[in-house]
Amino acid sequence: MKNESFYYKGNELFCEQVPVSEIAKTVGTPVYCYSSRHLINRFKAYDKAFDQRDHLICFAVKANSNLAVLNLLARLGAGADIVSGGELFRAIKAGIPSRRIVYSGVGKTKAEMAYALKEDILMFNVESLEELYELEAISKNLGKRARISIRVNPDVDPKTHPYISTGLKKNKFGLSAPQALMAYQKANESKWLEVIGIDCHIGSQILETTPFINAFEKMRELMNELSSMGIELSYIDLGGGLGISYHQETPPAPGDYVAAILALAKDLDQTIIIEPGRSICGNSGILLTRLLYNKKGSMKNFYVVDGAMNDLGRPSLYDAYHEILPVIQKADSADILVDVVGPICETGDFLARDRKLPPLSKGELLAVMSAGAYGFTMSSNYNSRPKPAEVMVAGERFEIVRRRQTYEDLIQGEVIPEWEAMSV
Ligand code: LLP
Repeated sequence: MKNESFYYKGNELFCEQVPVSEIAKTVGTPVYCYSSRHLINRFKAYDKAFDQRDHLICFAVKANSNLAVLNLLARLGAGADIVSGGELFRAIKAGIPSRRIVYSGVGKTKAEMAYALKEDILMFNVESLEELYELEAISKNLGKRARISIRVNPDVDPKTHPYISTGLKKNKFGLSAPQALMAYQKANESKWLEVIGIDCHIGSQILETTPFINAFEKMRELMNELSSMGIELSYIDLGGGLGISYHQETPPAPGDYVAAILALAKDLDQTIIIEPGRSICGNSGILLTRLLYNKKGSMKNFYVVDGAMNDLGRPSLYDAYHEILPVIQKADSADILVDVVGPICETGDFLARDRKLPPLSKGELLAVMSAGAYGFTMSSNYNSRPKPAEVMVAGERFEIVRRRQTYEDLIQGEVIPEWEAMSV
């Protein structure tokens, strides 16, 4: 999606005040470019909407974990929602204070929980009874109380792609209301666990406020029951999930989403936590790729580009739509129908199918839009392709915030066992 940070000046695509062709020329392709201005604006849209209300915006690190992105958000006051020891490591390295970090996920290992306890994170969003007992044992072992919330599965339909809905009964996430009540009771009886919150996350790329409101209402019912058990909470964590416009979607603005939450929370005094990822960074980034070959198949036209499913997996994985724009616009040329495909040896390796694009020739640049969330973080080295570089733009400046991987990077940590070599 074009926005105030990615726009055409004359016939040329810019990121803030930088022509993106300049970035491609200096850094090569494929390359992710992020607009710092857009990240700041999106974060502030959430933050301002909360106004005087106690709140904490825990950016979902899984959406974009580049240190420069995390550090920028940290300086604006963001916390982090993490799901692994690796994400905790990144968040801390980027300067996010540990007391602003919440830890979600169904499969936290002992080592990860011990690490998070030592770092004194704000709270663990516990997703099962077994996890609760494991955490209790680790806390006792380390002589350190763990602050917890229980992740509730509110059984609401977020009406999004099935792979990314998380708050339905059939999903692996959270606990049903009766299970949650039991978990709270157990936690409350333990001297190693401090019950401080309630949590849910119902899914991602959600395009209306109703599912969030329904989830919040279910949480309130549960909080009333907890109150009658003598359990009072200080935090309500509503998770992330607000969608963005990739094409023609019209999601609520962050401010409207927050207003809907605040309307429901008027009579509550808990600190509200949210865990947005995509809605902060999704439209803050693009993937720049260069046309390698213009291949005319017997049935279809293919733009074979140097970016592939290993760089941006969303089209292949979820059949997701990412707008693709020519970096230099063509005047008066009729669009043609093409598949934009990468060099990987799979038919599933495409960035777009049956897309109308202007006729382009070898060497021209394309921008895959809305690639700032779940882009680089889901990239892989499949086909032994080095991961792309990442660039941050601020006004007229840009800087490489992650250098492109080299071939040496690809084999780092690998060993050929001596006995293996000797056995042939
Ligand atoms: N909190 C929790 C516990 C989550 O599991 C997630 C995302 C978020 C927050 C952030 O959600 P967001 O605000 O970004 O929607 N790879 C998929 C998206 C997976 C989302 C997983 N959980 C995609 O590319 O669409």
